[in-house]
Formats: sequence, structure tokens, C-alpha cells
Amino acid sequence: MNESKKAMSIDHLQQLDKIVSLSKSRGFIFQSSEIYGGLGAVYDYGPLGAELKRNIRDAWWREMTQKHENIVGVDAAIFMHPKVWEASGHVEGFNDPMIDDKQSKKRYRADMLIEQHIEKLRKDGKEKEAEQVKELLDTSGTRVGLCEDLHKIIMDYEIKAPESGAFDWTDVRQFNLMFKTQFGAVASAEDADAVYLRPETAQGIFVNYKNVMDTARQQIPFGIAQVGKAFRNEVVARQFVFRMREFEQMEMQYFVKPGADEEQYNEWLNKRMEWHKGIGIREKYLRAEPHPPDKLAHYARAAADIQYLFPIGWQEVEGIHNRTDFDLSQHQEYSGKKLEYFDQSTRDRYVPYVVETSVGLDRTILMVLCDAYREEEVEGETRTVLKMHPELAPITAGIFPLVKKPELQELSRKIEKDLREDYRVLYDEAGSIGKRYRRLDEAGTPFCITVDFDGLEDNTVTIRYRDDMKQERISADKVGEVIRSASKSWKPESK
Ligand code: GAP
Repeated sequence: MNESKKAMSIDHLQQLDKIVSLSKSRGFIFQSSEIYGGLGAVYDYGPLGAELKRNIRDAWWREMTQKHENIVGVDAAIFMHPKVWEASGHVEGFNDPMIDDKQSKKRYRADMLIEQHIEKLRKDGKEKEAEQVKELLDTSGTRVGLCEDLHKIIMDYEIKAPESGAFDWTDVRQFNLMFKTQFGAVASAEDADAVYLRPETAQGIFVNYKNVMDTARQQIPFGIAQVGKAFRNEVVARQFVFRMREFEQMEMQYFVKPGADEEQYNEWLNKRMEWHKGIGIREKYLRAEPHPPDKLAHYARAAADIQYLFPIGWQEVEGIHNRTDFDLSQHQEYSGKKLEYFDQSTRDRYVPYVVETSVGLDRTILMVLCDAYREEEVEGETRTVLKMHPELAPITAGIFPLVKKPELQELSRKIEKDLREDYRVLYDEAGSIGKRYRRLDEAGTPFCITVDFDGLEDNTVTIRYRDDMKQERISADKVGEVIRSASKSWKPESK
């Protein structure tokens, strides 16, 4: 029954297609409304994906609210008062610079079009010209205005439309990323009545800061955590669940005394990096990238991305931001309600500063899938396996009777029933043991328990470990214990 493996060299950076295909075939992620041809950049989670998503969400929530006595949770509505988005700066400034190809009528993000042109120049060995364009792109917006600068680069370097090959562009215009809708039966979708689908969960936290402080009896420093949907009308949205139009964020706003913000920002950056390692992501594929001061968002005094080396390159998974008192001051001004904090011990009164940690749930799922995906050669065949942290795995254990005999089925069912109290398990008696292992390897199931005739004599079973495929005989009464301890001590392979 023992399997022996040989790692196959697949390039980490070439995996995305394989992950997209496995996600569909095994029921992790489907395109939304697929039977109607799909809806761009919107995805549904299937049975395995829904469990994985829930496990990651629970791990984050536990980390924030259970492990910190001064962090509490909220679950705010997606719709918010329209003034919220004026105060936050989203109505005015949550834009992407877009340009249209007049021939094909296709719309492109102007900065991305230029990025692609730089890549092409590099591929063609035109390094010097690539550097020139990059320099112009990096300093765009500092000369005339962002739109004008980007338009000039596209014109000067005669950048053509990728699909039609035409060089027939409109001007570059700002395009707001918020989805607009209307409230009530007679409302119109004109700007005056517009209600937006929230583009970030953070504002639901800011507007509740006083409610929470008053009801949860928190004193500064304290945090508010939230997990929920956010919506952005992304124009470039072709990278599976990396960039979606409907996605989920896990955000925490940490309210601190002005002056304590810098230390807290550094502390949270470290803590969040440790969390990513703790959910089993290999250290060498993670890095923290501070934003240069001239690229900071309007609200930020400091910001860093936690990035993962995705198949599409180093990309942000989480943002850590020192948002100063920008949001609370804005809401104070727009709502006319005092959002100050009164410190009883020092008699100080101030608007708190906020350190924000903001991670995309869907992007974390993609990171976990990319990091876990391996192909290995086992007995002349390819085994595809997801070596994810056992505590994230959608199914923790498979329970197999060696053959379909009542005695074996009975003991297998008993073990299954016991484990079900604590874990999601799968009973499977179809096909050879090898095939059953392979199915669960692809689902990322870390443990398989096989019941055979010897075991009926001495009350033992075989446990097979997903990562190294080693097998051990253990007491049938100790299966839960062995799984618990192996899950706790699990470490990712360094490869
Ligand atoms: N409140 C701050 C904020 O929203 P952000 O950098 O715009 O910051 C935070 O978003 C995180 O949300 C990102 O690091 C990413 O993981 C996720 N995210 C943002 N836009 C996304 C999209 N279109 N699809 C999937 N995830 C997205």
C-alpha cells in the first residue's frame, strides 16, 4: 500500500491555469452564472471552496477577536448613507484612469496599458526605452495631471490597442469604481439619490466607532474587526479571484492615541506577517513592501503591502495603513457629530488615529491554493496534491474501508461518526485505495484512515499522511487525538 514519490519540477509561476482548472474540476471555485456564459470577474465557491473560505475567515476572526481582548467585531450593512462616501473621499477620488479604443470600443486602464508596453519593450530587449517610459509612468500626475500625462505617454510612444492593434484613442478619463444603485420604488439613479455598494468594509467600522466604544466599554487603544463583501467595478479584472468585482474583505481598524500610531503600525505589520506564516504560507514567497512616500493614498501617513509571489508575480494580499485621524475627522465634519475620545485618566480629548489591516479573503484563498499546489510523480503517474495547512483543509480526513465488507464498513462508519463531531470528514468506499487517496490529495485532505481485516483483530487502523504519504498503524480509538496533534505540529515543506 506504500506509495513513493518524486517531486516534479513545475514552475511556481506557471501554475495559475492549473489552479483555475483544478478549482473548477474539484468544486473549489466556479465562474458565476456559468450556464449563461459567466459574468466577468464574479465567482462562486463550490462545496470545497466554501469550506476553505469559511476556515480562512474563521482563522482570521479567531486571531483578531478571540486572541485580543481589546478587539471586537461588527457586521455592518453593505448599503450606507451616501454622505459616507463623500466624507471618505470615494465619490471624488476612487477612480481609475481609463482610455477607450475608438475602433473596438474596448476600454483599458491607461496605466496598465503603459505597463504592458514596458513589459513588451523589455521582452524585445529595448531596456533603455523601457526605463524611459517607466520613469515617465512613475512620475505621471506630477507634471500636468494624471490623465493628461498618461495620454501623452500613450501618444508619444504610439502605444496600440492590444486587441485591435489600432492607434485611435479617446482622451484619458477618470472612471469611478463604485457601483451605483437606487433606493425605493420611485428613486432615480441620478447622483443626488445614488446609493452605492460599499467599495470597502472599513467605513462601516468608522461610522460605528462611537457606538462600539460606548457599548463594548472599550478604551483606547482598541480595535474593531469586520468581514464582509465589498464591490468595485474593476476594469482590468482578468486574473481569476485575484481581482474581482464582488469580493470579501477582512479589515480591522485599531484606534490609537495620536503619537502611538507609528509604533502600532510597525507592530501590526509584524503581527499580520506572522499570521500569513501561521496559516502555512511558505516564508520565501512572502514579503512586506512599504509604499514610497510619494505614492501614499491621500489618507495615509505610512502604508505597506504584504505581498505573495503569485503566478502573476509579487502582488498585494494585504494592506497595512496608518490612516491618521483622516476618516474620523472627515465623518465628524460631514455628520456634524463629535467623534472625539475623552481620556478619563489624563483628561485629554482627541480624535483617535487609526492603524488599519485590510486583507482580501478571496485573494488569501488564491494564495493558499497557489502555495499548496504541487505535482509529484508517484509510481509513474502524476499526483496533484494541495499541501495546505490541515486546519484550513475543506475535508480533514477520509475514512475508507479497504473493501466493501460489512465488518469493515461498520468500523469505518463508527470512526467517521466519532470524527464528525469535530471535523469535516468523508466516507469513501468507491474504487481502489490508490484512487481514493488521489481524489483527496486534490482536495487537500491531510489524513486518510483505512480500515482493514487485521485492524478488526487488534482494533487498529492505518493513517496515511497527505504530504509525505507515510503510513502508520494506530489504535482505532486514538484517530481523533493523532489528527489533532499532527494538525497542530504541521509545517509547510520549504519547496
Ligand atoms: N480599506 C482599505 C482598502 O480597502 P485596498 O488595498 O483597496 O485597501 C485591501 O484593499 C485588500 O482587499 C487588498 O489587499 C486585496 O487583498 C483586497 N482587494 C482589493 N480589491 C480587490 C478586488 N477587486 N478583488 C479581490 N480582492 C481585492
